[in-house]
Amino acid sequence: MDSKEIRRRFLAFFEKRGHTMLPSAPLVPENDPSALFITAGMQPLAPFLMGNPHPGGRRLANVQKCVRTQDIESVGDATHDTFFEMLGNWSLGDYFKEEAIRWSYELLTSTDEGFGLDSRRLYITCFAGDENAPRDEESACVWRSLGIPENRIYYLPVENNWWSPGENGPCGPDTEMFYDITPAGLGELTHEQFLWADDSQQTVEIWNDVFIEYEKRAGKVVGKLAQKNVDTGAGLERLAMVLQKKDNIFDADLFAPIMAELPAGDGRNASVRARRIVADHVRTSVFIATDGVSPSNTSQGYVLRRLLRRAVRFADLLGMPPLSLARIAGCVPHAYADIYPELETSQGAVQELFEKEETLFRKTLHRGMREFKKLSHANISGHDAFLLFSSYGFPFELTAELAREHEIAVDEAGFREELAKHQELSRASTEGKFKGGLAGGSEKELKYHTATHLLHQALADVLGESVRQMGSNINAERLRFDFAHESKLTDEEKQKVEEIVNEKIRENLPVQSVILLREEAEKTGARHFFKEKYGDTVTLYYIGPDLAHAYSKEFCGGPHASRTGELGTLRIVKEEAVSAGLRRIKAVLE
Ligand code: SER
Repeated sequence: MDSKEIRRRFLAFFEKRGHTMLPSAPLVPENDPSALFITAGMQPLAPFLMGNPHPGGRRLANVQKCVRTQDIESVGDATHDTFFEMLGNWSLGDYFKEEAIRWSYELLTSTDEGFGLDSRRLYITCFAGDENAPRDEESACVWRSLGIPENRIYYLPVENNWWSPGENGPCGPDTEMFYDITPAGLGELTHEQFLWADDSQQTVEIWNDVFIEYEKRAGKVVGKLAQKNVDTGAGLERLAMVLQKKDNIFDADLFAPIMAELPAGDGRNASVRARRIVADHVRTSVFIATDGVSPSNTSQGYVLRRLLRRAVRFADLLGMPPLSLARIAGCVPHAYADIYPELETSQGAVQELFEKEETLFRKTLHRGMREFKKLSHANISGHDAFLLFSSYGFPFELTAELAREHEIAVDEAGFREELAKHQELSRASTEGKFKGGLAGGSEKELKYHTATHLLHQALADVLGESVRQMGSNINAERLRFDFAHESKLTDEEKQKVEEIVNEKIRENLPVQSVILLREEAEKTGARHFFKEKYGDTVTLYYIGPDLAHAYSKEFCGGPHASRTGELGTLRIVKEEAVSAGLRRIKAVLE
């Protein structure tokens, strides 16, 4: 069964069961400063899991593009990739464990409308229970009623069977489905044997049903949500691998055309890994670049740069000629022809971008490697890692990887200090912290995010509609807002802006969101970040009693404080020029 048919069957199955189909949100979260990329299907839906009504209703299904780079070191094994598509069905306070599990099982095993997998090759894990939530007997009971024997159900702790996208927001226990991909079949496995089989990739996790009924704040489960939700995720690449009877995702149909363009290699582990890394990183880079990102030293651009530069190194290892990445990139759109037509539209521009980035990197790569070799007789200081970064274009992770190969250490903290001296702490450098959309989202950051929207509108009120947002950055200490404006703000203007924001805070307005078609959303006059590319549907956050009477309306992925009254008092601490026509405000909440 090819991947197109897998998508089709998945969506048709849930459409028949009353679910509204949603398009994939863009990879870069819409105007959400707290996460670099969408890392799970639930991220753009988080506000609705928290209780906001979704215009599509209570049952939704989608195929969401995701980028996760925290497992980048594992790419090269059978199942890890940095870009993947997640098939998901959603219940927003509607059905719960019974239907979710039954439908997962039916879709996986039914031969006519489903995938026809062998139920005797399925293994199930459920949450073992802890101080926050009981052992998930309820899910196990549903599995047993479907014919899964007790000895194929394993109870695992919070590290395995609890899903939460970050320190704050909706979360809950999950039940995961694993499939045995060995030729002979593993048969019955004890708890220990199952863990070992999974570690050695003899079984593959193909689906995860999360029962989102809890809420986390500052890393702690604080209680139950107003509604019980279901968030399921099935990795398309892994399903394709299993259904096409391959033992790794790179041999299945989404990767195969890309792999076919790479040199065969010598079959040894190192070259198998290098081929997979090149294919993976090029594919991910194509998707990221198509969603409007260019290589740079910060944020999403840094991730793209890191992927492309890493791919160059592994392409060299395979003996590929220079500028091969752009050529390989040319195979990606074809594999997604009817699914993401924008890949084809952007193909020329993306290939050009890759050539430029590779050329730029190659200019310094040799000198950088020479410098690295000089340094590598001892551990590498933060200062030297920064030199490799700033003068030779080595992303920190590249230096760290080379250092590991040479069995020496790098002073990461020292590097970060150097970096902070030269620029405001790069968002990308803390990417590891940001697992999901709610990410970063300490309570203080949510407040700053909401304050940013108020500030944006107040600036437009005082300076005129020509004020356009050019950038924003938030941490727990302050907000920073860049906007297009010709002249320095006068003291009166600054005071007026502060007064308006603080008045809106005193009014204690609710902060709410809706999903709308992009054209409809544009008609509301909502502000958007003009550099951003948006998908067909967008989330619009508004501050006020309802959309028609809202004080502020913006395209945004959230999350936000729930009412302005929580924010405190806004004070502008600095207003300065970044460059001609570009101003920057720093403000704090006190
Ligand atoms: N959020 C869960 C995951 O990413 C299920 O969709 O695995």
